[in-house]
Amino acid sequence: MSTTQEISRRRTFAIISHPDAGKTTLTEKLLLFGGAIQTAGAVKSNKIKKSATSDFMEIEKQRGISVATSVMTFEYRDLKINILDTPGHKDFAEDTYRTLTAVDSVILVIDCVKGVEEQTERLMEVCRMRDTPVIIFINKLDREGQNPFDLLDELEAKLNIKVRPLTWPVNMGSDFKGVYSLYDKTMNFFRVNKTKVEDDILEIDINTPVLEQKVGARDAEQLREDAELIEGVYDPFDRQTYLEGKVAPVFFGSAVNNFGVKELLDTFCDISPEPIARATDKRVVLPEEAKFTGFVFKIHANLDPRHRDRIAFLRICSGTFERGKFYHHTRLDKDIRFSSPFSFMADSKSIVEEGFPGDVVGLYDTGSFKIGDTLTEGEDLQYTGIPSFSPEIFKELINADPMKSKQLEKGIQQLTDEGVAQLFTLISGNRKIVGTVGELQFDVIQYRLEHEYGAKCRWVSMPVSKACWLTSDDKKKLDEFIRLKGLAIAYDKDGNPVFLAESDWILRMNIQNNPDIKFHFTSEFK
Ligand code: G4P
Repeated sequence: MSTTQEISRRRTFAIISHPDAGKTTLTEKLLLFGGAIQTAGAVKSNKIKKSATSDFMEIEKQRGISVATSVMTFEYRDLKINILDTPGHKDFAEDTYRTLTAVDSVILVIDCVKGVEEQTERLMEVCRMRDTPVIIFINKLDREGQNPFDLLDELEAKLNIKVRPLTWPVNMGSDFKGVYSLYDKTMNFFRVNKTKVEDDILEIDINTPVLEQKVGARDAEQLREDAELIEGVYDPFDRQTYLEGKVAPVFFGSAVNNFGVKELLDTFCDISPEPIARATDKRVVLPEEAKFTGFVFKIHANLDPRHRDRIAFLRICSGTFERGKFYHHTRLDKDIRFSSPFSFMADSKSIVEEGFPGDVVGLYDTGSFKIGDTLTEGEDLQYTGIPSFSPEIFKELINADPMKSKQLEKGIQQLTDEGVAQLFTLISGNRKIVGTVGELQFDVIQYRLEHEYGAKCRWVSMPVSKACWLTSDDKKKLDEFIRLKGLAIAYDKDGNPVFLAESDWILRMNIQNNPDIKFHFTSEFK
């Protein structure tokens, strides 16, 4: 197969949802279709139910041993589909944001009872920033949910995207009859069905009495009315608009009953994008370019203390990645080769000889990688679009065992390279501030510092609510601002100055009073 053919058969995406909406269940059903797993229950949920560190560590340990769940690959209709897993817990949202930089599209799962939940909004904001194409799956139709028109309105209002239903439910909850495909003009009848993959689909003209016979007079009338209203209110579905991230096609179903999943998957295969061109600091790189490039979007620690190595997840963006070949690490300006890169199947990993754009390969790493690092065949470029966002909780890292300060230093550097948290160093006194999006990470860092690096720490809360990256066209003005604000200025891991604002109000005042200084809400501002 030629490289162009390899590229065009790849689909790399993530499933995102608020916890409990059904992401794990849907993932599993998709894998069943692809034959990547044989039985339901094979995909382990990475949910942290109790929000306890021990629980998290246990899960991480399991995942550390079987990192296979981070990327799940299966073949379907001649396509090679890569699902990138995202953590369910909100405290690990940063990890999800970064994974979203490595996909070409997403499927968003919504619980029809709960509608749009908080975390969904935040995840979608990240997708909107990058114009990532989105397909929406409204799940749990076997439950008494909200009116589907209200759900669509809510999606448009809260997620800042236009929607276009492609299927439509006939009733919900205990009286759920099935979904009607507005395009194929077929009706898929609902069956409680946890294992079979075939659906009970019938071509149907909804304007004929066959509909009454099938679903009863009341539901037949309702479906006709709804279908007419949809055609009147929503524009016809247009693939290009979807690919531009401006409209999201919507499907209804019930993942746990494996219902509506096949239509979703088939449409995904028909419309979702192939590996797309990506921006670097120098130029846009096309997947079909001959030379290999790729970037690291995730680093997974090996929590087995006997094996300190980590696994860097590399998204291939162009050319062919080959095992054993030297590649250029552009940040370190150094050539590295990987003798045992591996790929992922649902429940195993195996050494790969080559990989193509869209693929993710796992690389054993002994500490050379940071999130966002780029590998090339020599060209000096850096992939962009992998920004850090302001953390929400800030704490000072205090060394609790002065005999182990070297270990603490190394540990916190490595953990923040992995992207577990962000590290800021105050310009005054060299104090280290750690920023995260959730409390849980502080416990995780403390635990890992102790167990992996033999260092002890404690935390002191900081009165900081937001971090803003600073630049200015006038270097003098920036230096002066940094000097004046002394205590509120820190450097991030790359040495960029950051303003640590105590409150939104203080931030606003500073933005207002310092027109020559630019305040950036993400770390990427070139
Ligand atoms: P997540 O990864 O998004 O967090 O969600 P997950 O798939 O784990 O699903 C959350 C819960 O919702 C699970 O129940 C799952 O069985 C259920 N669920 C998924 N799809 C449907 C559906 O279409 N209809 C209904 N009624 N429920 C659905 P649980 O009780 O948390 O777990 P389990 O004991 O059933 O595994």
